[in-house]
Amino acid sequence: MQMKFDPKVFQLGYVALGTPNIERAKQHYLQNLGMTEVARDGDGSVYLSIGYNHHDLVLRPTAQKALLNVGFQLKPHITPSEFARDVRETGLTATIKTDSQPGVAELVEVDAPGGLAIQFYGAIEASAPGFKQTGAAPFRLGHVAIINPDGDKAIAFLTDFLGFVLTDDIAGIANFLTCNREHHVVNLVKAPELRVHHIAFELRDTACHGVASDALRAAGVNILWGPSRHTAGHNVASYHHDPDKVMIEFYTEMDTFIPELGMSEPRPWHEHFPMKPRSWGPTELNAWGADFAFNLATG
Ligand SMILES: [Fe+2]
Repeated sequence: MQMKFDPKVFQLGYVALGTPNIERAKQHYLQNLGMTEVARDGDGSVYLSIGYNHHDLVLRPTAQKALLNVGFQLKPHITPSEFARDVRETGLTATIKTDSQPGVAELVEVDAPGGLAIQFYGAIEASAPGFKQTGAAPFRLGHVAIINPDGDKAIAFLTDFLGFVLTDDIAGIANFLTCNREHHVVNLVKAPELRVHHIAFELRDTACHGVASDALRAAGVNILWGPSRHTAGHNVASYHHDPDKVMIEFYTEMDTFIPELGMSEPRPWHEHFPMKPRSWGPTELNAWGADFAFNLATG
């Protein structure tokens, strides 16, 4: 299956969360993930970097935990004004914001289906505070799983307008979409609420899962699932909760998608050749046959 693949964006840039206890949440990301505080707003919002970009995670004070927005980086040839015009032609609201957050001079905020706010920007400062050698120390933000109450329209926005492709689904509930060569950059979960399902950081290699799990446990944080290999994406993944019970994934060995062939690069652990987009069953979460459970819609 050959498919046209020319997304308007090429990577997930950041996720902004609201938290009722910013210090407690921040300490988790600083100490257990090894992130660095790069900037702070007057309202107490903090901007955290993994090591290169100005920020990969934003924490803002809110009464209850919340997914505030996600940010995607536009392809270099697309200007924010052109992008905003194209969004408006689809009937959605697009607002150009300048200096709305440190590190990003200009962005377009779109009210995407289901009430999801997505920010699109051409450039983010490379503050490069450096990578820490403590905690799990992931090297990048890879994907975000979002529960969306208007899932079909949100998926249509991602595919028909932004140019993402669907690489897999699980029971039609979890829908895996990519805008680059990773199996998924977004996992859109269809369920009647708007919130983050999990945020996924890539570790430097699979041996680091043990180090990361030990570091979490030493800090009093339990592992919820894994480390184990998934089916969709075949990433070796583990999950834990941050202090607000926002689920965080660490992963390695994610499938590499080849859009020209509409398949993932073959791997020894694949049980389907060619590994093309497919629909997995609701209990087919684990490639190793381990039976720990995971509720896709409420996780
Ligand atoms: Fe994930």
